[in-house]
Amino acid sequence: MAVHVNRVALIGTGFVGSSYAFALLNQGVTEELVLIDLNKEKSEGDAMDLNHGLAFAPTRTKIWYGEYEDCKNADVVVLCAGANQKPGETRLDLVAKNLKIFKSIVDRVMVSGFDGIFIVATNPVDILSYAVWKYSGLHHSRVIGSGTILDTARFRYLLGEHFGVDTRNVHAYIIGEHGDTELPVWSHADIGGSPILDSVASDKDKLEEIFVNVRDAAYQIINRKGATYYGIAMGLVRLTKAILHNESSILTVSCYLNGEYDQRDVFIGVPAVVGSDGIKKVVELKLNEMENQQFAHSANVLKETMKPFFK
Ligand code: 2OP
Repeated sequence: MAVHVNRVALIGTGFVGSSYAFALLNQGVTEELVLIDLNKEKSEGDAMDLNHGLAFAPTRTKIWYGEYEDCKNADVVVLCAGANQKPGETRLDLVAKNLKIFKSIVDRVMVSGFDGIFIVATNPVDILSYAVWKYSGLHHSRVIGSGTILDTARFRYLLGEHFGVDTRNVHAYIIGEHGDTELPVWSHADIGGSPILDSVASDKDKLEEIFVNVRDAAYQIINRKGATYYGIAMGLVRLTKAILHNESSILTVSCYLNGEYDQRDVFIGVPAVVGSDGIKKVVELKLNEMENQQFAHSANVLKETMKPFFK
């Protein structure tokens, strides 16, 4: 009987893609990693560089630079290709440019015979995830956008700093668009079982400031160093691990809503159970009235932005 070998195909080895490859290797998540980029020299150089670190890695990973045909046997194809935000640009400003790039990429991946799970990282991630679903013809449960996985991590980090606890003991979600209309779910935010809103250290203005710093984090980083990549790369590794190891982990990702949260036909960030089949289940939090309104607004902004491209 043939033994299954886990393979991840990474498309786009820019800042985000190459940071992802580095983090994946360091965490020993997959047995095979193929790097695909328009700029073959870059992906060849990355493959050489990463292979030189194998002696220091926790497990063996076979890494090479390859072609779209290599996606055929991949369990996961991770899409990091496309333009990123310049200072002053929003994620939604990238939509037309990146949709065009994605059409040709997804067509080529599907021609290879790929039959696994797509992870989408490129912005605007919610709209590009929808596009990958449409272009690929796969079931929507097999397309996962990084969504608000990073925003949730930023939120937990800042809350952990404020309350003086390990970020991993903070349970709080950012949902909605991965972008300017995202929202914090304060009604379900807790630390070690105690609701954050009930805590004596919960100064409302401070909590609002924490959220604003989460929402605007990418702008703050892009103004300083031109791009963000380490945080998202680690979030993508977390997602890859949940799929390859069939973890059934709850992560805030961009997934297709079909009536959940009163929304249909949109990819947007919500908590979902992620495993080897992709999205196993959307976790439907009971939002309060204000959160419901904010979420509906965020979904509408995505739908309106998408409208001209998906008639
Ligand atoms: C981020 O939030 C730019 O979407 C990227 O870091």
